[in-house]
Amino acid sequence: MTTQQQERTLVLVKPDGVRRSLVGEVIARIERKGYVVTSIKMVQPDRATLAKHYAEHEGKPFYEPLLEFMLSGPVVAIIAEGNRVIEGFRKLAGTTDPTTAEPGTIRGDLARDQGTKVVQNIVHGSDSVESANREISIWFGEVK
Ligand code: RTP
Ligand code: MG
Repeated sequence: MTTQQQERTLVLVKPDGVRRSLVGEVIARIERKGYVVTSIKMVQPDRATLAKHYAEHEGKPFYEPLLEFMLSGPVVAIIAEGNRVIEGFRKLAGTTDPTTAEPGTIRGDLARDQGTKVVQNIVHGSDSVESANREISIWFGEVK
């Protein structure tokens, strides 16, 4: 019998979430949904790490403000594991714009537009298996 490999995703609690003491709230929602947190650490990211993480957005108008925001304080990096966790966590997070994110989601319940240069929306979640592998290796220095 073959055991199915559990899917993994990279979650970041962004600096706004850490500043507002929402780390526990985010972890609780991941766990209540039934996913398992398999690695976690708090880090003050440097610019090089963030440039790698957000390489797909380089050149976009929100890129510099996004990096500045992400450099503004520590973030919590989490690996969460479970069947279809990539899709499932994106659903838990809600859409990018927190003002219109559905109530019941992390962004919809806990964030709103603050009028800042870039939208601050508490969490990041990988959007595909390829992104998850790439991002896990950036933040945890490993690929699986
Ligand atoms: P994330 O990567 O952080 O999980 O967010 P996402 O997939 O929902 O959004 P994405 O398009 O990847 O954008 C990354 C982050 O950049 C900021 N953003 N601001 N028009 C804007 O002002 C704008 N667009 C994107 C947000 O912080 C977004 O989460
Ligand atoms: Mg994204």
